[in-house]
Amino acid sequence: MGDDVITVDGDRLWRSLMELARIGAYTDKRTGLVGVNRLALTDADAAARRQVIAWMEALGLAVRIDAVGNVYGRRDGTDPGAAPVILGSHIDSVATAGAFDGCLGVLGGLEVVRRLDELGIATTHPVEVAFFTEEEGVRFRTDMLGSAVAARRVPLDEALALTDRDGATLGAELARHGFDGPDDPVLAPPHAYLECHIEQGPVLAAGGEEIGVVTGVQGISWQEVTLDGRFGHAGATPTERRADAGLAAARAVVHLRAMADSGAFGELRATVGGLHLHPGLPNVVPGRATFTIDLRNPDDAAMDRAEAAFAAFLHDLEAEHDGRLTATTQRLALTRAVDFDEGLRGAVAAAADDLGYSRRSLRSGAGHDAQELAHIGRAAMIFVPGEHEGISHNPREYSTPEACRRGIDVLATVAVRLAR
Ligand code: HGY
Ligand code: MN
Ligand code: MN
Repeated sequence: MGDDVITVDGDRLWRSLMELARIGAYTDKRTGLVGVNRLALTDADAAARRQVIAWMEALGLAVRIDAVGNVYGRRDGTDPGAAPVILGSHIDSVATAGAFDGCLGVLGGLEVVRRLDELGIATTHPVEVAFFTEEEGVRFRTDMLGSAVAARRVPLDEALALTDRDGATLGAELARHGFDGPDDPVLAPPHAYLECHIEQGPVLAAGGEEIGVVTGVQGISWQEVTLDGRFGHAGATPTERRADAGLAAARAVVHLRAMADSGAFGELRATVGGLHLHPGLPNVVPGRATFTIDLRNPDDAAMDRAEAAFAAFLHDLEAEHDGRLTATTQRLALTRAVDFDEGLRGAVAAAADDLGYSRRSLRSGAGHDAQELAHIGRAAMIFVPGEHEGISHNPREYSTPEACRRGIDVLATVAVRLAR
């Protein structure tokens, strides 16, 4: 192997992944599986942040925290004015997570730094390891939030004012934990941004490839819909006189699935992840329903058509109830499909080849911080396969120590070649 093919210490990487997974760990009552629940800026996320910062400081990295809580650990290059190679991802999680989503890219970045130090490799460009705030978006309801602020998709003051279900603002939660950093979060274009991540889908496992060279990420649309009908007595209200928001919401869920199945909106995926009926009592016809819609589409125009078609469906629903049911829609997020930098994709493929790892190209089904960073500079992703058909956002999420190590070998090799 050439001197610029780097392999890392897979056991040390694995130990750090398992150690971080203990922070916010929970046991799923039904399956007995241990998962991770570390929503952004909860006490668990804050504890995980402090743990990763401690590891950064132990490596002598210069740590900076920006005003939206993004954290960067910098290993200096010989040219202090050179733009950094950033190795990033996230350590916040959904409520039913495993140990790998996001964490592999951040702890893998730290492992790359350890290997550079062990091998005595100096780089021209600084190397930075980063984790971004609220990548999952599940608490403050805009995904890839920290990286979107870094890439100017979301203004800082708008981000800090976002509230969770209890009315706590992101700004207050950052301050509560001391992660309301001094630095301007808007990022200067890095020399390159690299993110290693589990695939979170079945493609690599099905084909048996060891490395995914990610071509890009599909677009994401998040909306919250509120249907206001009429509360009524479950026994005394005749069926034909009802304005049942629960029934209307159920029809909306079925309609979204029919839209995805129709093929009329390209490769649309639609998910209603949260659905709440009010007052939620057995003998009251629900007068209000609120639900979230997550649409994914690799084609922005098809995404826009899908959003318009669903808005038309809601309009028809109102007309059918001759005004006794109204629909209001709030946009939570819209991030566009991106294609990653051709040159970086080639560098990832070449590193996999030089390391002797099988590979294939694929588009990411999940959203990632790299999707935001791609708007300000060259960005690329490296996928590793997951077990159990790549299940994710589920405690069953699992990638083997070898799969994780291979991904970070590629990350290290590409990072060194770019940073030199
Ligand atoms: O929603 C996503 O695709 C990512 O997990 N934030
Ligand atoms: Mn992720
Ligand atoms: Mn995720």
